[in-house]
Amino acid sequence: MMRVRRALLFMPGDSRRKIEKGAAGGVDSVIMDLEDGVAISQKDAARREIAQALGEVDFRRSEKLVRVNPAGSPLFADDLDAVLPARPEGIVLPKVESAEDVAVVDSRIRAEETAHGWTPDGIALIAIVETAMGVVNLREIAASVRDTPRLQALVFGAEDLAGDMGAVRTAEGWEGLYARGAVVLHAKAFGLDAIDTVHIDFNDEAGLTAQARRALEMGYTGKLAIHPRQVEPIQRAFTPSANEVAAARRLVEAHAAAQAAGIGAIQIDGRMIDMPLIRAAERVLARAGQG
Ligand code: COA
Ligand code: MG
Repeated sequence: MMRVRRALLFMPGDSRRKIEKGAAGGVDSVIMDLEDGVAISQKDAARREIAQALGEVDFRRSEKLVRVNPAGSPLFADDLDAVLPARPEGIVLPKVESAEDVAVVDSRIRAEETAHGWTPDGIALIAIVETAMGVVNLREIAASVRDTPRLQALVFGAEDLAGDMGAVRTAEGWEGLYARGAVVLHAKAFGLDAIDTVHIDFNDEAGLTAQARRALEMGYTGKLAIHPRQVEPIQRAFTPSANEVAAARRLVEAHAAAQAAGIGAIQIDGRMIDMPLIRAAERVLARAGQG
């Protein structure tokens, strides 16, 4: 069964305190970070801390993910060597720019699975696209799922992308709109989850909820979080409300009745209802666990 990843909460890998707090917060996925959330001088300590936490901390229902440094960086091989033996449920790879980046990490994970006799492709891979080259190469990155079935999701990273492009981050996110659309489009074309960027202002619940809603409307399935306060609003935004579920059920039932009577297109409240809307309603029911 595929994991539901609505909110994915980052925590610095060198902070056992935050790892424990994150593990207790009821988030769908935790991401213990070795990349930019950890100072260069603390990389080694963070590797040890994460490996230890994977063995000792009770993460309850949260998926245990580790973000390593980018493929090809001098840190990345040591990151994987340190954390893979502790068996995280997935690796989050930042600044992915090519299918080759995905293949390199895939083969290193596969070697570890084979050595331990673990389920092949049991460790998931999640790719963050957050550079201009990554966006330009989205097609080959997403298509690598054909060789690398552990690839389960693409993440849109707006902050790093703006930096890489020399663009200015705006509240509305215009500068990243093409990339935000391209990431979800490529993810869906290849059957992958799509996860939206962080909202760095962790006291702005209204803004966070609006951005999560926008992401959902674009087809995104989840959103990154950087503070425990953001988990509940994100998970709520990606869970259909009782009203949405009731409306979806009404559509599906009316459609089934029409089909039984030999009628394809019908109207409800002055709107034409046919297959695209029925499929959308079925997706709402599936997200609500009532599909
Ligand atoms: N995961 C788990 N717990 C967290 C957390 C996180 N991401 N962010 C904050 N907390 C905890 C804090 O430890 C604190 O608990 P405590 O007082 O019992 O120690 C509580 O939540 C409230 O935190 P607060 O004081 O509001 O924030 P802070 O100043 O401690 O931390 C940040 C602010 C931004 C440094 C912190 O949210 C953080 O580390 N975020 C993730 C950073 C990261 O991983 N970045 C890389 C990906 S972009
Ligand atoms: Mg980054």
